[in-house]
Amino acid sequence: MDSHGIPNFSKRSAPMTGTSTATPSRFEHVPVAVFPDSAQASRAVARDIAALIRSHPAGGRPAVLGLATGSTPLGLYAELVRMHREEGLSFANVVTFNLDEYYRVLPSNPRSYRHFMQAHLFDHVDIVPANTHVPDGTVALADVDAHCRAYEEKIHAAGGIDFQILGIGRTGHIGFNEPGSARRSRTRIVTLDSLTRRDASGDFGGEENTPRHAITMGVRTILEARQIVLLAWGQHKAEIVCEAVEGPVTPQITASFLQEHDHVRFVIDRAAAGALTRYRTPWLLGTLSDQGLTWDAAMVRRAVIWLSRLRKKAVLKLTDEDYNEAGLEDLIRIQGSAYDANLAGFYQLQHTITGWPGGRDPSKTRSGDAPARPLKAASAGVFPKRILVLSPHPDDDVIGMGGTLCRLVEHGHEVHVAYQVSGANAVSDDALTRTLRFVFDAGLADASTDTGLRELCALHDASGTLPESPVVARLKGIVRRQEALAAARVCGVPAERLHFLDLPFYRAATGKRRQLSGEDTAIVGELLGRIRPHLIFAAGDLDDPHGTHRLCLHALRDALARTAGEPWVRESELWLYRGAWSEWSADEIDMAVPLSPREVLRRRRAIFCHETQKDLALFLGDDRREFWQRSEDRSRRLAETYNALGLAEYEAIEAFKRYAPEEFLRDLPL
Ligand code: F6R
Repeated sequence: MDSHGIPNFSKRSAPMTGTSTATPSRFEHVPVAVFPDSAQASRAVARDIAALIRSHPAGGRPAVLGLATGSTPLGLYAELVRMHREEGLSFANVVTFNLDEYYRVLPSNPRSYRHFMQAHLFDHVDIVPANTHVPDGTVALADVDAHCRAYEEKIHAAGGIDFQILGIGRTGHIGFNEPGSARRSRTRIVTLDSLTRRDASGDFGGEENTPRHAITMGVRTILEARQIVLLAWGQHKAEIVCEAVEGPVTPQITASFLQEHDHVRFVIDRAAAGALTRYRTPWLLGTLSDQGLTWDAAMVRRAVIWLSRLRKKAVLKLTDEDYNEAGLEDLIRIQGSAYDANLAGFYQLQHTITGWPGGRDPSKTRSGDAPARPLKAASAGVFPKRILVLSPHPDDDVIGMGGTLCRLVEHGHEVHVAYQVSGANAVSDDALTRTLRFVFDAGLADASTDTGLRELCALHDASGTLPESPVVARLKGIVRRQEALAAARVCGVPAERLHFLDLPFYRAATGKRRQLSGEDTAIVGELLGRIRPHLIFAAGDLDDPHGTHRLCLHALRDALARTAGEPWVRESELWLYRGAWSEWSADEIDMAVPLSPREVLRRRRAIFCHETQKDLALFLGDDRREFWQRSEDRSRRLAETYNALGLAEYEAIEAFKRYAPEEFLRDLPL
C-alpha cells in the first residue's frame, strides 16, 4: 500500500494473481497483466477498487474514481454491483468523474454516457447522486470551455483522482483523446476520429447518426490520477495495445503517454495481448522453454512465415544464417537445421491449400490423389456433405467466399445459404423508388393494393427521401432478397436452399441500439437443427462499420451453445471467412482455396448482382473501393503472399480459419 492507502501498482510491483506467468518482456514499456479472460481480469480489478474504497471509511476523504464507459468496463461494473449487494461494499464515501460524454446527446438518451453509468453502476449502488460527475454533453458551444474548466476544478476540489479506469479505442485513444492530442491537454471538446465513430456506429444505428464531437478529460488530466488501470479485451484491440505498450511515446497513440506514469498497469485478456512480442514473436525474448513455451507446430509455422517475410525469401530458401541472425537459433537447434525447419513450416502451409473445400468424393478418389486436407477426420469421409453458409448481409457470402461457394456446389454438396439480416438499411431510397417506378411503368401494379406505394414515390419526388417505416423496410428487404437470389443463381445454389432469416435485432429503428434477443438465437438455432450441417461457414469479420457481423456471429455462438450436446454439433466443423473489411494473416489460415481466373470472374458476376450495393453503397466506410474490388484485391494479395512464401502462383485465394464448435464457444474473439 502507498501513502494514500492504495494497493501498490508501481512499475516494480509483482504480477496480479491469475495473470500470465510469462516473463515481462524488455519490449514492454509499461506493466502488463494478462488474464485468461476478461471476466477474471475484471474481478481482479474490482477487488483492487474495493480495497481502495474500503481504505476510505465514512467521515474521511472520499475515494475518488475516474470511470470509463464502453463495452470494456461492463464486467468490472457488474462485479462492483455484485460486491455491493453480496459483500456490503458501500459507495457512500465515493466520488466519481467520468472521462467523457458525447456532445449534443441528452443524458436521457440511452446512448449517452450518463445513461450508461446510471444503468450499469450508479442506479445499483449506494452512491450519492451528487457525487457522480459526467461531462455535460448538452451545454451550449459558447459555454463548453467554462464547463470544461469547472470539471477540472471539481476534480481538484475532490482531492484528485485516486484510481482511473481506462479503455482503449482502436485509434489508441484514452478518453476521447484522439491521435494528435497533446500531453498537456485538459478537459475540452474534441472531434471524434472516423474509426472511433465507426466503432460506435453499431450503438447509434449507422455512422451517419453517430456524434462527431465529444467532451473528454485531457491527457494531462488523466495522467494526474494517482493510479491508472487500462483495460482491453479481444483480438480487435491487440494491435493497438501492442503499439501503446511497446511503441514510442507519441501523441498519435495517446495511450502511449501512460508509459510515463509511475503507477499504471494494463490489465488485458489473452486475445488483446496477442500482438505483444511475448506472444507473437516470443523467440525474440530468448529460448522458448525459459518462457514456459514450446516449439509446437503452430509456433514453428508462425516463426518460419515471419522469417521468410523478414528476409524477403521463400521459405525453402532460408539458411542457417537467416535463422541465426534473426534470433531463431533456438528453432534450428530443435529442428536440426534450417533445411528441416523450412520443411516443417513449408508443409504446414502447403497443407492449408485445397481445391476440395468440402472434401473429395471417396468413390471417385484414385489411389495417389492428395488427401482431403484439411478437413477434420470426423466429417472427412462423408460425401456429399450438408453445408451451411451463414451470410450476415445478403452479399457477404459472395464477397467473402464466392469462389469457394461455387466450388462446393460444383462438387455436389448440399449447400444452403442463410442470410441473417434483411440488409434493408443499406438500400438507398433512390434504389427502391426506381424499382417501384418500373413496376408502375410496366403496368404491373395492382391498383387495389398499390395506392400507398404511389404515395411513397410522390413523397420521394417531393422530398428526395422516404420515411422510415416497416413498409419501406420490407420493400427494401425484398430488393436485397432478389439480388441475393440472382447471385445464388450465378453460384448454382437453388432457391429452395436459400434461407432469409430476417433476424429481428436488425429491425431496430435508426438510432436505436441493436441488441440480440432470444428470438434471434432461436431462429438461427432452428435452422441449424433442421439442416444439421457437417460444415458451417460463417463471417468472422468483426471489423464491419455497423456491428452487424459481430451480432450475427454472436447469434451463431448462442445458438450453438444451446445445441452443444447434440451429436451433429460434435461432428460438425466451423470455418470462419473474412468479408470486405479485413483478411486473416497467413499464420492464422487453416484452409486456403485457390481460385482460377475464371472463378474470380464468376465471383465478380455474383457480386455485381447486388446492384444496390454498387457505387453508392451506404456503408463503404473509409475505403472507397467497391466490394468486388476489395474482394479481388484481398484474394489476389493473399495469393501473392503464398507465392512469396514459395508456394505455387495462383490467381487468387480465399482463406478460412477453423474452429471446433467448443473452441468457438470458448474463444470467439468478440
Ligand atoms: C469511454 C472512453 C473510450 C473507451 C474506448 C474503448 O468512456 O473514454 O476511450 O474506453 O473507446 O471503448 P470500448 O470499451 O467500447 O471498446
